[in-house]
Amino acid sequence: MSLSARDLLAWYDRHRRTLPFRGEADPYRIWVSEVMLQQTTAAAAGPRFARFVARFPDLATLATAPESAVMEEWAGLGYYARARNLHAGAQALLARGGFPDTPEGLREIPGIGPYTAAAVAAIAFGRPVVPVDANVERVTARLFAVEEPLPRAKPRLSALAQRWMEAEEARARPGDLAQALFDLGATVCTPRAPACTLCPVRPACAGAAAGIAAALPAKAARPPRPLRHGVHFLALRGDGAVWLRRRPPRGLLGGMWEIPGTPWRDSPWAEAEAAAHAPCRARWRAVPGVARHGFTHFELAATLRVARAEGLPEEGWHAAARAEAILPRAMRRLLALAAEAGAMKIAADSNSGRSAP
Ligand code: ADE
Repeated sequence: MSLSARDLLAWYDRHRRTLPFRGEADPYRIWVSEVMLQQTTAAAAGPRFARFVARFPDLATLATAPESAVMEEWAGLGYYARARNLHAGAQALLARGGFPDTPEGLREIPGIGPYTAAAVAAIAFGRPVVPVDANVERVTARLFAVEEPLPRAKPRLSALAQRWMEAEEARARPGDLAQALFDLGATVCTPRAPACTLCPVRPACAGAAAGIAAALPAKAARPPRPLRHGVHFLALRGDGAVWLRRRPPRGLLGGMWEIPGTPWRDSPWAEAEAAAHAPCRARWRAVPGVARHGFTHFELAATLRVARAEGLPEEGWHAAARAEAILPRAMRRLLALAAEAGAMKIAADSNSGRSAP
């Protein structure tokens, strides 16, 4: 089976998506975009990329910014370790005077893994490597009719994907070839119902020829994620501000703001037991509903209590709009529950009785 890099690139020239990070030559910007794109679709990453590089326009600005500013800018994008790695990586890159221009050199920077190293090397420096993300894995599994399930098939798919670079046309445009594969995966060779009739490399596709393309890549069954329970306490002030605290610097959502609450554990919390984790004494009222959020290794089911409260440390109070901007997604879901329930009113009512404890 022969891959036609020429056909793929010709398709890319006609059908490439217009994305804010396309056409960048600055390795810093390419690096930031590729880190962001590992957890967000290209469409969703666009505005966040623009915002990020407006705030941290170059390596030196990012490297010298406080880590908390970088984490806040990352809020809502998930996988906060990536933001921390980006910050640490910027410091290492600045210290060595800029970006290495090979995949091997890039891999030596702390926080830069094989995907990012290949993406930056191909797109910024024209090195003939194919960065392998989920799109490229899917396209490759189909092209070569690889039926071995993921994740076991990863090394094989990665090796097969590199075959694109055997073609002279690909070696002349490695960055475009990589991005053509991303776009093909996102718009034509989609996870469900691939549009094989529109595919520029359909003649080379063993998966399509065998009628199994849509079923690939096969995935090994994953054990279901355990459910964990938490109860959170949203203290509200008369002016609508909410009280947040920072999580410990390391670990899950390390250093991010949160609505204070119980630890997250396997069994649900009894009311009195949860109450011991409230940030202050107040008349806490339950907000209807459960906020669910999927983390990599578990799913969180969190409920919310609200109360009017004053007197908590000043640095924790944030206007609601700012809280929305700096909280991670799991916590935003709790804010949404509060908003749906008209939490300010509940909290106000909860204070209408005398002598809140
Ligand atoms: N996914 C990861 N990197 C990408 C890029 N540069 N363009 C489009 N989608 C991507």
